[in-house]
Amino acid sequence: MLCRVPEPDVPHLDFDDAWRVAGTVGGWLTEAQARALYDASRQVAPATVVEIGSHLGRSTIVLAASGAAVTAIDPFPDDWRYGRPDTEQRLRSHLAQAGVADRVDLRVATSRAVREGWNAPVRLVYVDAKHDMWSCLDDMRWSDFLTEGDTFFVHDAFSSLGVTLAVLRDAVTTRRHTYVGRTGSLARFEVGRPSVAQRLRVLREMPWFARNLVVKVLLRLRLRPVARLLRHDDTADPY
Ligand SMILES: C[S@@+](CC[C@H](N)C(=O)[O-])C[C@H]1O[C@@H](n2cnc3c(N)ncnc32)[C@H](O)[C@@H]1O
Repeated sequence: MLCRVPEPDVPHLDFDDAWRVAGTVGGWLTEAQARALYDASRQVAPATVVEIGSHLGRSTIVLAASGAAVTAIDPFPDDWRYGRPDTEQRLRSHLAQAGVADRVDLRVATSRAVREGWNAPVRLVYVDAKHDMWSCLDDMRWSDFLTEGDTFFVHDAFSSLGVTLAVLRDAVTTRRHTYVGRTGSLARFEVGRPSVAQRLRVLREMPWFARNLVVKVLLRLRLRPVARLLRHDDTADPY
């Protein structure tokens, strides 16, 4: 893994200051995951970071707090889960509240539409948009803009069937993505040709994925005490 020293003069917020706001914004990113995104983004700031799927800005805030120039992509679709007419405005007001609005270029469009017109260098990518396999694989193509040794993250990599299938399929077929590890179900990859052993690392996470599926079922069945036996103390799904 390349070890980089963050540029000291890049204006940024401390993680704790950013999380004080981001932690109050609705979303699915844990504090440990937010810190992993922030630290990686800090390493490349003030370069461009692309976030695919912003919702209310929980992750956007921590990425922008690092001092990176964040391109945040979300079409704000009118769907059952994320679609509220005011989502975009709420996101913008959260960014302003955190003091990072000027670091974020918000694109109200799909990941693919933005990618097809994109031609600038990117140093970090964060994928957290549609959770079906084909959409996730398509979003992972943003890594084409990264160079060897750069990082990209995929959220819900081992807690959502579609995303897990995408990560597994990619592990078999990729020539450019090396799985490095995870914070909860936030998977971290580096751009570089993986060895067979590195491809197999993804498979080794399958017991963790199976555990998360069981926890989700238990929570739906209101069996929290049983979920606690699997070390899940939260009322929310494991991420
Ligand atoms: C899980 S949420 C993102 C959560 C956010 N990263 C956070 O930390 O709170 C997924 C988001 O992806 C967005 N989305 C759906 N389809 C998309 C697409 N084709 N391209 C980019 N974003 C998309 C949804 O509107 C939704 O806001």
